[in-house]
Amino acid sequence: MSSRRDFMGMALGGFTALGGIGALYAMKRSWDPLPSVKAAGFTTIDLSTAEENILSVEKWRGKPIFVLKKPKDAPANDRDVVIGADRFHVSIGLCTHLGCIPAYFGDEKKFKCACHGGEFDVSGINLPNLPPPSPLEIPPFKIDGTKLVLGEAGAEYKKMLNAGLTV
Ligand code: FES
Repeated sequence: MSSRRDFMGMALGGFTALGGIGALYAMKRSWDPLPSVKAAGFTTIDLSTAEENILSVEKWRGKPIFVLKKPKDAPANDRDVVIGADRFHVSIGLCTHLGCIPAYFGDEKKFKCACHGGEFDVSGINLPNLPPPSPLEIPPFKIDGTKLVLGEAGAEYKKMLNAGLTV
């Protein structure tokens, strides 16, 4: 009889422990930020080690972000992000025609979209007489030393926005 009581006691203890773990898990989940809050965060990229004419694709708020240290012989553009003596092209890597992700061709210094043949120059400007209606968009950014902070609208970004260089 006592062994039956021991068994019942152990079983009850086990259920109580499981319930406690479940409650702790539920509490932890409620402390974690919602996925949308995480996605709304900032992304910081250190540009000090970027290599010229090599495209790096970062991710910010679920979108691909193009970061390209422009080759020295590429023409300067008001859309460039300037850090020291270097100029960078930074854009949301989605074609402004129907949203495909263009690829960068370093030998031609062009972004090309395989979907409908759209092309953009090294500054992200759409080439004429092709489907994309506008340049690649520039995400809100702030420059912090050699770092680029995506998601924060710094003075350089606001200047581009006010000049109509991005939407
Ligand atoms: S989506 Fe890029 S050209 Fe159509």
